[in-house]
Amino acid sequence: MRVLIPFILVGFLYVLAGDGVQFPADWPDMKFVEEGVILKDNPLYTIVPGYHMTLMNDKAWEHFKKHFKDFRMKKEVPPFPVGSKVVFVNFKGKHYKTPRIILVMLKTGKLGDVGGWKWEGFVMPEKRRIVKTPSKDCANCHYKGKKNWDGIFVPHAK
Ligand code: HEC
Repeated sequence: MRVLIPFILVGFLYVLAGDGVQFPADWPDMKFVEEGVILKDNPLYTIVPGYHMTLMNDKAWEHFKKHFKDFRMKKEVPPFPVGSKVVFVNFKGKHYKTPRIILVMLKTGKLGDVGGWKWEGFVMPEKRRIVKTPSKDCANCHYKGKKNWDGIFVPHAK
């Protein structure tokens, strides 16, 4: 039994380490959803000022397209399926070329105070992670524990 405990501990730490969201290297190939500008009066200005675009992987995109009208009308939409990835790329300058920060939401399905998403942000170009406590850093603003709300804004999608 004494021998087993360190193994269990190592396994546990490994699981914790694997818990992070991978850097979305595929963002330039993901489906374009919307773009916009975060101005000074926006609470997001301190994190991601200026230009951004929102992108989705195929899984999230299929769901978004299927329920597009309801998203637009701000109606109740079923939750995004597990495996959905939504990325918010904030740019330096206005040319959509040089990312400053890349925010990621990855659906794992474990509902709770983080809405079933994993949350991460990467400062570019070094890909430094910025999320310490997802419930406080991100999900509190997105999800707020509301019912019938999956935490995705996509406000300007056309
Ligand atoms: C102050 C509230 C607030 C905080 C804090 C916040 N977000 Fe957001 N987030 C928003 C709003 C509002 C939008 C929509 C912005 C737009 O497109 O104009 C958004 C958009 C996004 C999107 C694009 C999908 C969508 O919902 O439109 C992702 C991905 C995202 N945020 C991830 C994160 C991550 C990761 C964190 C934590 C580091 C975070 N957010 C922190 C409010 C917030």
